[in-house]
Amino acid sequence: MNKILKKTQLSDCVYRMEVEAPLIARERKPGQFIILQVDDDFGERIPLTIADADPERGSITLVFQAVGKTTHLLAEKEEGDTIVALLGPLGQPSRIEKVGHVVCVGGGIGVAPLYPIAQALKAIGNRLTIIIGARNKSLLIMEDEMRAIADDLIVVTDDGSYGRKALVTEPLKELCEQTPKPDMAVAIGPPIMMKFCAETTRPYGVHTIVSLNTIMIDGTGMCGGCRVTVGGETKFVCVDGPEFDGHLVDFDNMMKRLRAYKPREDADHEKYHCRLEAAAARLEAAAATHAK
Ligand code: FES
Repeated sequence: MNKILKKTQLSDCVYRMEVEAPLIARERKPGQFIILQVDDDFGERIPLTIADADPERGSITLVFQAVGKTTHLLAEKEEGDTIVALLGPLGQPSRIEKVGHVVCVGGGIGVAPLYPIAQALKAIGNRLTIIIGARNKSLLIMEDEMRAIADDLIVVTDDGSYGRKALVTEPLKELCEQTPKPDMAVAIGPPIMMKFCAETTRPYGVHTIVSLNTIMIDGTGMCGGCRVTVGGETKFVCVDGPEFDGHLVDFDNMMKRLRAYKPREDADHEKYHCRLEAAAARLEAAAATHAK
């Protein structure tokens, strides 16, 4: 059982939770993730990147978007509640090397897993240009944290409601066109965003790392649920990844596999989001009554 120490809502459907997990907090490295099971013994298991950790406090920070049944059930938990099982740290840690100028690109919820990697890249002396983007201002997360570690921060929104009106690939392309071009790029976000980031950097020969977030079940390389094709070979995201060379990933195949669960995910989102909104309204009403 892992206790939720702190819960913050970052945007409409995005939450940050600090969870008690002393062993994981001590062992985790940037790029690694956990698999969690919210409640009963038969619940779905989902992978979440460890966005931060505090070994002194014995806690890890998870940032997640409520999109399907399990993430909505997790969002319904409050401080003091427990999560039935946390498994980790899993996956290969990021390769953190001093290469010079690194462009870090985070889209939507992908900004959270990007943060520890960017932090580690900065800590060993790389120059960081960070691009963060979202569909609109209300969906943008962790701007302050990223600003604190970036040499240059570029904020974009699809609708122009905040920062520059652009997709993340536009400033990325401009940076690749500069002389000297960046030495490396790290892109984390929705699969379609990572695919187009990789396509943007490919003609310029800028090595591009992506972090894949596939369906996972056991997290140990046994079930095959997380398999992807990288450079023509089958890889398992849970043990071989989650980070891969973006120029070698078969994103179309990966997105096809993810789409298989989309109708179920949409139906669950509809059902559980209403429950979350109703719970939030009840809390607000209770707080207003209390304040009178
Ligand atoms: S989650 Fe089962 S093989 Fe990766």
